[in-house]
Amino acid sequence: MKLSALTLLAHFCGTLARSPGCGKATKQPLDKFFTNNSTAHEGRTWQERLSSAYDYNTETPLLIYLHGQYGDASTVSRELPFHKSTYDSIISVYPQGLDDAASGDCGTGWNVIGSEASHDASTCNAKANSNTCCYKSCMSAGVCSGDGADANCGWATCEPDTDFVMDMIAQLQEELCVGEIWLAGGSNGGMMTHGLYGQYPETFKSVMPVYGLPLVGHMNVPDSLTGTSVLAMHDRSDTVIPWAGGEAGGWSYESGEKVYGEWAKVHGCEEASPVAVETPYDGGNKNLACSWYGKCDSGRTVMTCLYDGGHGSWPRQGEELAVWFFQDKWKYI
Ligand SMILES: *[C@@H]1O[C@H](CO)[C@@H](O)[C@H](O)[C@H]1NC(C)=O
Ligand SMILES: *[C@@H]1O[C@H](CO)[C@@H](O)[C@H](O)[C@H]1NC(C)=O
Repeated sequence: MKLSALTLLAHFCGTLARSPGCGKATKQPLDKFFTNNSTAHEGRTWQERLSSAYDYNTETPLLIYLHGQYGDASTVSRELPFHKSTYDSIISVYPQGLDDAASGDCGTGWNVIGSEASHDASTCNAKANSNTCCYKSCMSAGVCSGDGADANCGWATCEPDTDFVMDMIAQLQEELCVGEIWLAGGSNGGMMTHGLYGQYPETFKSVMPVYGLPLVGHMNVPDSLTGTSVLAMHDRSDTVIPWAGGEAGGWSYESGEKVYGEWAKVHGCEEASPVAVETPYDGGNKNLACSWYGKCDSGRTVMTCLYDGGHGSWPRQGEELAVWFFQDKWKYI
């Protein structure tokens, strides 16, 4: 390979780490959502929105939000318009999950556990079986043969969803000037958030799982997450994915304290268990209150915020809190 002087210069200046899309003029519309397509995964789409201030020479944060089971990207992009919480330029992206249920109706969702089989039968019992479906992609992979008990605890497709999200990020970086990446998701999308940071720990600057916890046996908090901050958002009265963990609907979840306690260990935080912390967004219509594990050696942070309500509830100031957190404004606490 022949290296030009410019390439060498770029190399020595460390600018090779910049997203290849920096400096590329874009044809994307500004200031409105549109459906964009994956080049690597045929038929896969996401909702995308660039701020009106988007400048293709300036590294711009990419915020990804994964909807929950039965959810869809265009609805959630309207319900959670994070871009409205900041004047700064951001790239907002809401990927669309798949529903290829053979019969029955298990809705859209995410193959959280891995690229091939989503169905780890060890994570559910007969109670879960009664509500599950065998998606076509899983049937053809030989993972299940029908709905209910024959679905083998099926609740998501067997499509390679982690690859889809990572390839989507690469495509966005190729075409846009992407800076740091913020990953968030609700419910099944929150579980997918846990799955993605575990599998690709050096990708995200901040992550925000919303009423989502890992299934027992699938907690994965690698040491290389020290560059990533986490904000957990969870309603206090959740019975679908309880904050305290345990069995719900036939599945077993890890507890919030266990998962974020592990994060605190990895980050070398001062406190072993969470202590109350004030944010500018406390209170409100759902009595939001946050805790953290004190200052951490990593320079990043581990924060958990609880609020009133059941699974799917979200405080009115939630997007503002999230963007405040993603923009590292917790550093001024
Ligand atoms: C995405 O693909 C669909 C279907 O092929 C097409 O109609 C649409 O224009 C594409 N969108 C973009 C932004 O390229
Ligand atoms: C999205 O769609 C536009 C066309 O509107 C296209 O120019 C762009 O390259 C697509 N991809 C990304 C990653 O934005």
